Amino acid sequence: MTRTIIKGLGSFLPDNVVTNSDLEKIMDTSDEWIQERTGIKERRWISNRSETTSSMGCKAAKKAMEMAGLGPSDIDFVIFATLSPDYYFPGSGVLVQRDLGLDNVGALDLRNQCSGFIYGLSVADQFIKTGMYKNILLIGSEFHSGALEKSTNGRSVTVIFGDGAGAVVLSAAEEGEKGIISTCMHSQGEHAEALMIKGPATGVWVDELLEKENYGEPEWRPYMNGNFVFKHAVTRMPEAIQEVLDAAGKSSADIDLLIPHQANLRISAMVQKHFNMSDEKVFNNIQHLGNTTAGSIPIAMTQAFEEGKLKRGDLLCLTAFGSGFTWGAALLEF
Ligand code: UT7
Repeated sequence: MTRTIIKGLGSFLPDNVVTNSDLEKIMDTSDEWIQERTGIKERRWISNRSETTSSMGCKAAKKAMEMAGLGPSDIDFVIFATLSPDYYFPGSGVLVQRDLGLDNVGALDLRNQCSGFIYGLSVADQFIKTGMYKNILLIGSEFHSGALEKSTNGRSVTVIFGDGAGAVVLSAAEEGEKGIISTCMHSQGEHAEALMIKGPATGVWVDELLEKENYGEPEWRPYMNGNFVFKHAVTRMPEAIQEVLDAAGKSSADIDLLIPHQANLRISAMVQKHFNMSDEKVFNNIQHLGNTTAGSIPIAMTQAFEEGKLKRGDLLCLTAFGSGFTWGAALLEF
């Protein structure tokens, strides 16, 4: 069966840097609290609606296509992972198809939040392995800042999230190239309401929301039971890593670089400790970008590659956990 390789990668970040001290000015929080609990020093927030989820995705995708040496007519399929799409419908994948001038290829939107990139990688791998497609554009992009409540009321969520996009071009491997070795995907919907934005959706429509806001909490803001999510994240991510290692007949000592979804530096540290890995083998950039959800892994991969920390031939492990709950992992030879 054909293997899937990552032929190109790229990222895009809005210019506007929001530091913890900027947040201190608009809510009751402190640089000390944010750094101690999350590791985050600053994040990027789109200013004045200068970007959209799909526009950032397109910019990241262009870089990934350039690195892969591919043009618009070479792309056979688009997968777009996001929890913050441009529109309620249609999805953002079709906007990428339009704005990058791709042929009338299929465009699939994935709604798996922080695990969206891992899910996308696994889905793309199946299409390439079976020979249905040769080159797939996979994008993870988030425009969080528009929905965050920028006051003390929203502080437990707002300080964590950042905007940005990452993309990869996945292609059929040539002779001798290894690429994706194993992936896994999981969900546990009984905890769907532990991390969510409730509406507007069919469960709660706009007029209901407007009515409710007069009485209390607006339900179109993100809600997270932080402690509960944290406890599950530090259990599920190691489980998923072990699963892809077992499927490949490898051990954690074989991993050259681990890139965990950037949810919280303390979560990454606990996953690292679980496998007794050295600092050089785990890549984190949440300190400067916050949690960019579906964008976090491809943005981190791009940065690690640009800094020479991720090299061709490395055994790379990726893992994510988030809303749904959904989680998963991927093991690949980069
Ligand atoms: O990517 C998707 C998956 N997401 C995650 O994996 C996130 C998982 N959860 C977390 O990262 C952490 O739970 C948080 C960073 C969200 C919160 O950290 P925590 O250590 O669990 O804090 P907490 O929620 O237990 O809150 C501790 C205290 C509370 O005050 P009291 O009740 O002890 O007086 C909060 O009101 O900290 C307060 N607090 C804040 N204080 C200053 C909450 N947010 C803030 C804030 N600034 N921004």
